[in-house]
Amino acid sequence: MGIHKCGLLVLFALSYSVVQVRDLSLGKIQINLGLPQISSKFEFTNIRCNSLDKQYSDFEHCLIKSINRSYKYVTIRVKLFKTPLTKVKGRILKRFDGYNGYRPFMVNMTVDACRFLENMNSNPIANYLYGFVKLYTNMNHSCPYDHDLLVDKLPIQFVNYQVTKVLPFPEGDYVYETHWFAYDIKRAVVKVYGTIS
Ligand SMILES: *[C@@H]1O[C@H](CO)[C@@H](O)[C@H](O)[C@H]1NC(C)=O
Ligand SMILES: *[C@@H]1O[C@H](CO)[C@@H](O)[C@H](O)[C@H]1NC(C)=O
Ligand SMILES: *[C@@H]1O[C@H](CO)[C@@H](O)[C@H](O)[C@H]1NC(C)=O
Repeated sequence: MGIHKCGLLVLFALSYSVVQVRDLSLGKIQINLGLPQISSKFEFTNIRCNSLDKQYSDFEHCLIKSINRSYKYVTIRVKLFKTPLTKVKGRILKRFDGYNGYRPFMVNMTVDACRFLENMNSNPIANYLYGFVKLYTNMNHSCPYDHDLLVDKLPIQFVNYQVTKVLPFPEGDYVYETHWFAYDIKRAVVKVYGTIS
């Protein structure tokens, strides 16, 4: 699936279409996390890009690259065929003690990137999610996307800054997941896995 973007799954965008489990504002979230200044450290652990229908999209790149001990990055490039991408949904999941697999972190809400990009001030959560990739992607315009989508060399240091300084996350295993749609049919899925320790 694919599609690109953003590395991180681009998740920005928000569509409240999906469900919000708790009614939290970002401000409350910060308070809830309690901000003891932990010196967390982020590591990429895996990346998966799946094109659900290679007639519509295919990934040219989907990788975590280690240049040296301090410089690692994620690059994702997806080629779109035939039909433009009209919707991107994203969210962050975390592994919690006592549960199998990953569950929604902070809020159980999926953000619709295309709606968000039309009005970036509309949603602080989407803004935060988009912040992961906006400096490294060619997706920073409104939908639809009818060109190759790229997240180019998103550095681990930048992600580390996002999850330890901008909004400190608790330690644990996370996934930044994005789903890519064209005409309401899911065409690709990108999952970037990471650990904060
Ligand atoms: C790691 O690679 C980057 C990019 O090539 C370089 O700027 C940096 O100095 C290198 N760091 C170390 C510790 O070698
Ligand atoms: C999150 O929302 C989805 C969609 O409503 C729901 O199916 C799922 O059970 C929710 N997950 C949690 C952990 O609440
Ligand atoms: C998108 O990003 C490019 C490259 O960083 C920048 O030149 C351009 O102004 C941005 N466009 C928008 C709409 O933010």
